[in-house]
Amino acid sequence: MGKALDGVRILDFTHVQSGPTCTQLLAWFGADVIKVERAGAGDITREQLRDIPDVDSLYFTMLNHNKRSVTIDTKNPEGKLVLEALIQKCDVLVENFAPGALDRMGFTWERIQELNPKMIVASVKGFGPGPYEDCKVYENVAQCVGGSASTTGFDDGPPVVTGAQIGDSGTGLHLALGIVTALYQRTMTGRGQKVLAAMQDGVLNLCRVKLRDQQRLERTGVMKEYPQYPNGTFGEAVPRAGNASGGGQPGWILKCKGWEADPNAYIYFITQAPVWAKICNVIGKEEWATDPDYATPAARLPRLKEIFAEIERWTMSKTKFEAMEILNGHDIPCGPILSMKEIAEEPSLRKTGTIVEVDHPTRGKYLTVGNPIKLSDSPTEVTRSPLLGEHTDEVMAELGYSLEQISALRVAGAI
Ligand code: COA
Repeated sequence: MGKALDGVRILDFTHVQSGPTCTQLLAWFGADVIKVERAGAGDITREQLRDIPDVDSLYFTMLNHNKRSVTIDTKNPEGKLVLEALIQKCDVLVENFAPGALDRMGFTWERIQELNPKMIVASVKGFGPGPYEDCKVYENVAQCVGGSASTTGFDDGPPVVTGAQIGDSGTGLHLALGIVTALYQRTMTGRGQKVLAAMQDGVLNLCRVKLRDQQRLERTGVMKEYPQYPNGTFGEAVPRAGNASGGGQPGWILKCKGWEADPNAYIYFITQAPVWAKICNVIGKEEWATDPDYATPAARLPRLKEIFAEIERWTMSKTKFEAMEILNGHDIPCGPILSMKEIAEEPSLRKTGTIVEVDHPTRGKYLTVGNPIKLSDSPTEVTRSPLLGEHTDEVMAELGYSLEQISALRVAGAI
């Protein structure tokens, strides 16, 4: 069966996490992704957070599946010529170097356009144009400048970053959408274009609801679904909302049986208005279904703390999975707090290919997250990440270099 992006060639100049997330997705959709790495060293993550000596780290392998690796010294004049040949052969160049690095290498937008006017040049940067455009940025910096950290955590504690890599992987996803959109436009115009996904913008896009709340706060001075209401105070900016749902249906994380010993024996419980009577029945507070102090969403808002305390008395008598089963039986939205161990062992995720076991020549078997986006006509087969420079000769031959030329370039240190 064919793949959605069959025939699309990507010059993958990415490293660390944000860019590789993007190109891995494109590879899963069928693009030929040629990862260009620094000769001798490669993507720095190959050796970061290693769990086995001298073996590519899980950090690297889990972000670089289905790609080919070539090593080119792009600061070597002959290496530059190889890169030029690649630019002429590829449809998209993806990079997430520090600002200006590509220009310093001699590959400005204008030069790339000269070499290949159809080329799409896609970049992740920390910030868009403005006072911070020259700054280097990592995941947690993006979470802080994109509005996530100031709105995450509890009101009486410091800002908190989330474990979800919304700055890196989140921006990689945004970039991938920009690339396929530019490819689509190119089918009409025949022209390439620049695609930019700034990490600050990507995080802010995911924090859209908090900018909504900022404006609600400015208008009304209070947000009744936030835990600060009715007893706490609101300042000028959107406060941290703890585990409040952030939407129109109040929710909170509640203890379940075993919480004293198991840090993940909790469940997220949503008091969705249409099932309020069922919630009252399940927790044994039938009278709340008709009591005017509890019967309507507006009446419940100032009493959420007390209501969740009562629901928690019930959830603490059940394991999170028992609670999940009972509540789902009544259509009450909830979610057990799953540990990474539980997720790794979950059979249904293995079945859908969301968790995949991959074999690697030097590492052996390991688990990875497969393609979270499923296309019915373009199935994903996850294959291992390449060893450093594994495909240099193969790609050089495809570019038309003879064996002698390849040897000479190797001797010159260009590849
Ligand atoms: N051959 C020769 N040189 C190469 C090369 C190759 N194949 N590939 C890269 N380089 C050089 C570049 O030319 C550049 O050199 P220069 O600084 O002299 O211009 C350098 O390597 C690129 O390094 P840089 O991107 O500055 O890496 P860094 O380790 O100092 O910074 C980041 C890492 C992630 C902070 C930075 O790349 C960045 O801010 N990227 C954009 C935002 C981003 O994606 N952040 C999230 C990462 S998960």
